[in-house]
Amino acid sequence: MHWHILGAGAIGCIWAAQLYKSKHDVTLILRSKERLQQLCESKGIIYQSLNAESCAYNVGAELVKNNTPIKNLLICTKAYSTISALKSVAGRLTSDANVVLLQNGLGPQQEAVKLFPELSLWAATTTDGAYLNAPFHVVRAGHGETLIGMISKKKPLTYNDLIPSPCGDLNISLSANIEHKLWCKVAINAAINPLTALNNCKNGALVSNTVLTKKMQTVCQEVEMIAAACGQDLFDKPLYEMAISIANATAENYSSMLQDIKQKRPTEIEQITGFLCKQADKLNCNAPENNLLLQQVKQLSTAISSA
Ligand code: PAF
Repeated sequence: MHWHILGAGAIGCIWAAQLYKSKHDVTLILRSKERLQQLCESKGIIYQSLNAESCAYNVGAELVKNNTPIKNLLICTKAYSTISALKSVAGRLTSDANVVLLQNGLGPQQEAVKLFPELSLWAATTTDGAYLNAPFHVVRAGHGETLIGMISKKKPLTYNDLIPSPCGDLNISLSANIEHKLWCKVAINAAINPLTALNNCKNGALVSNTVLTKKMQTVCQEVEMIAAACGQDLFDKPLYEMAISIANATAENYSSMLQDIKQKRPTEIEQITGFLCKQADKLNCNAPENNLLLQQVKQLSTAISSA
């Protein structure tokens, strides 16, 4: 199976390394000659596993404007780039192509289905942990699970038609209700990420600081109400309890949104809290705390990028 991967961040590099290691054809799609040069200088993807061992994987790479056909495409850009990434290679997709969208947030998946009704589109969510030490040097911080499910209206394929097997140390399963899994992830991200980004704190502070804990509780109540209005029954316990246990389990981590702020990158606030606030508006739900967080993160982002 030949996979093209668009988005060579930490998750894209893990996938590329693991597919390559499992003897699949892998091609990274890069946006510039400078990125091709960086990959060349790093001598492929350097993958550092949990036991600190490093391996180099000499994966292939090409530019977006290359015109070779694409049969299997994994897009793991940040959520705000999903649609432009898909559009940038749409002309290269074969008529039977599979496209997997693996990112945080909600909104782009639904937009992709509307824009490309003829495509076999899949959405994925992961609890794998990883970060980049340098371009194409990925450090595996934790082994989680990746769930993939079809989001287009086409006849679903079987597991073996899509999931490359074997797939290294990736733990991938098909999900019959991926939309629900994406909602659950968005709900957790909405509870943890904006508060940590605004307060410049590790996830654990949401449990140890009573003011933040109280705010997180209000955020969770609103998110649960919005989800229910959209027909999503999130977890088998209250969202607040789930958020507390995840904040505890990741107490020493900086959330992805805070990392984006620290590195002056755009955040995924529009695809997380913004998505929820849009649903709330449509359904006349009151979500003042989430709306406030949305505005505050947007303001912080603008202030930081213009500083
Ligand atoms: O986005 C993140 O940072 C993570 O998904 C989570 C679970 C909120 C913890 O850091």
